[in-house]
Amino acid sequence: MKYIIEHFEEGLEEWCELEYSHMLSYVGEGNLILSNMHQSVLDNLPTKLEGVVVTGKSVLEIEGVTIDNCILLDPAAKEPLSPSDAENCKFLLFGGILGDDPPRDRTKELRVMGFKGRHLGPVQMTTDTAVMTSQHVLEKGIPLDELKFIDHPEIVLSKRETVQMPFRYLLNSEGKMIMPPGFKKLLRKGNDIDITTML
Ligand SMILES: C[S@@+](CC[C@H](N)C(=O)[O-])C[C@H]1O[C@@H](n2cnc3c(N)ncnc32)[C@H](O)[C@@H]1O
Repeated sequence: MKYIIEHFEEGLEEWCELEYSHMLSYVGEGNLILSNMHQSVLDNLPTKLEGVVVTGKSVLEIEGVTIDNCILLDPAAKEPLSPSDAENCKFLLFGGILGDDPPRDRTKELRVMGFKGRHLGPVQMTTDTAVMTSQHVLEKGIPLDELKFIDHPEIVLSKRETVQMPFRYLLNSEGKMIMPPGFKKLLRKGNDIDITTML
């Protein structure tokens, strides 16, 4: 299975780089395709993203991708993603779109291309959470309702400061929330991150 993230933003922010490298660690070298990347990003690809396939092409220009073999993960889809969707599916497509709170449904920019859409539940996930969740469902055959999540978790930044994330995250087998390594540190370091507009 190949995971395509159609990148909608011009640059590549540090936290976005962390999310992309987090996805890579789950899906493996050669299986993560970052499409629609701006030339300036292609020219200065961070070392963290070695092993990712990056291209300036848009999803439908990628060799092998067709409307019939690619599923769009779409919060507004009518049907949930299920293990049986793995049949005939070679590519999974996600919006590399800044999340927003409340969500503005920018995934529609991909929906209009005509892909079959599947949702992952009613709460907006970070893009790396959506990738990991889809991998569990399609590659490990675990139904969505057997996975455990936490919604809008509070993250402790310091003794006096917490921040509430406006997203749903996957829990690991020990019940711990899965976030990109280094992400909490980045949140603590730079309070300039606007968590209402994250991937
Ligand atoms: C951070 S979300 C951004 C969503 C954006 N705010 C919107 O309203 O479309 C980025 C991508 O993750 C995937 N995603 C996130 N939550 C999802 C859900 N509950 N169901 C299906 N896909 C989801 C979608 O592919 C989406 O384009």
